[in-house]
Amino acid sequence: MRPPRPPRLASVTSPDTAPVPVNADPACVRSIGVVGGGQLARMMIPAAIELDLPLVVLATAETESAARVSADTLLGRHDDPAAVRALAERCDALTFDHEHVPQEILHGIEDDALSAVRPGSAALVHAQDKLVMRDRLTRLGHPCPRWWEVRDAAELDAAIAAAGGRAVVKTPRGGYDGHGVRIVETAADASDWIADLGADGALLVEELVDFRRELSAQVARRPDGASAAYPVVQSTQRDSICFEVIAPAPGLDEERQQEIQGLARAIAEDLGVVGMLAVELFETADGRVLVNELAMRPHNTGHWSMDGAVTGQFEQHLRAVASRALGDPSPKAPWTVMVNLLGGASEDLAAGAAAAMEADAGVKVHLYGKSVRPGRKVGHVTVAGDDLEDVRARAHRAERLIIGGADAAGAPDETAGPESGTAPRPRTAPQDPTDPRSAA
Ligand SMILES: Nc1ncnc2c1ncn2[C@@H]1O[C@H](COP(=O)(O)OP(=O)(O)O)[C@@H](O)[C@H]1O
Ligand SMILES: [Mg+2]
Repeated sequence: MRPPRPPRLASVTSPDTAPVPVNADPACVRSIGVVGGGQLARMMIPAAIELDLPLVVLATAETESAARVSADTLLGRHDDPAAVRALAERCDALTFDHEHVPQEILHGIEDDALSAVRPGSAALVHAQDKLVMRDRLTRLGHPCPRWWEVRDAAELDAAIAAAGGRAVVKTPRGGYDGHGVRIVETAADASDWIADLGADGALLVEELVDFRRELSAQVARRPDGASAAYPVVQSTQRDSICFEVIAPAPGLDEERQQEIQGLARAIAEDLGVVGMLAVELFETADGRVLVNELAMRPHNTGHWSMDGAVTGQFEQHLRAVASRALGDPSPKAPWTVMVNLLGGASEDLAAGAAAAMEADAGVKVHLYGKSVRPGRKVGHVTVAGDDLEDVRARAHRAERLIIGGADAAGAPDETAGPESGTAPRPRTAPQDPTDPRSAA
């Protein structure tokens, strides 16, 4: 008699008929919806393809950066409940290209369990509202600049006086890239914002921090609390827009690095963040580190990691949101420099990009498929290597070639060290703080 056949293994069924659970999370995520069609959503797409996590993008127009390349796009606005709910119904987890989705819409999705919201509304509010963020971080004991909440001109003048005669005033919601940030010396400098305040409205006032440089600390956190911290980086803003990032931040000793990473992990834990968290920081002239603001999504200061770390931030964000194991955030080279491509003289980015690639095979070029407007983020370049000054010079040369056209290669070098006190410039140009498309 033939012996009985051994029982077949439990995973008998083919993945086509009964998918094998990929992890122990009962709410296992197999598809992700992204609210917003900007470059951050766009750069999630290659990672989603690699992980085979279908991604649905909610974009306002087919011409938006992510919508141009997404295989699955819903057209609709981030502040339209029906549009965001339709996205939530299509996927297991919802995440964000920008933080401007109204809280009420997220509450509705959470209450009706349409999909997991990651990060959830209770965490995200700290990236949506700078007053809520300041209040919470202060109560948690995390280091912040001195700050005041003001409701009218008299309170603003009092805060400016308390801050020493000059202060930074911020609209709590809707700002990006310096829109919604002004240096003021008198309440009259912000009279338009005060006039726009509704009955419950308030502005955030901060001391003008005398910073030596700006740093950024990124961590990824999963729903179960597991986290991974990236090296702390140095970021330089030009006209309040991120321009250059050096990873890791030069001259930061190991102890300090771990202290700052610990701060970012603590904030992620305290606020219950899921996904990538970026903590923008000031390193002050007298050696303190203060939190500037928070972003709960991939962040411009983390773009270097796409080419420069074992696990890039877009992949890491999706792994965290989908509750998969987090990847190794270690850098692959001693130095990685990222330089943003901000719209300039040349409309023809393709020609400049071709010239940059021709000039240096080590330059990684990322274009966002956006039309060129002055100052608009239209792409970035990354160079990694052993010698910081060489890597920086090559990244800036590529940036000049792409933005200024091929003739710009010999233009003056902008790689001088970080400017001390590169504070926001007072802005007078009309702004649209509700436009989230530059979020990064
Ligand atoms: N309190 C401050 N003191 C000095 N500079 C500041 C202060 N707050 C903001 N800045 C400068 O303005 C930039 C933009 O401010 P931020 O609050 O990060 O707004 P945004 O949401 O536009 O990024 C910062 O990166 C920093 O360069
Ligand atoms: Mg900022």
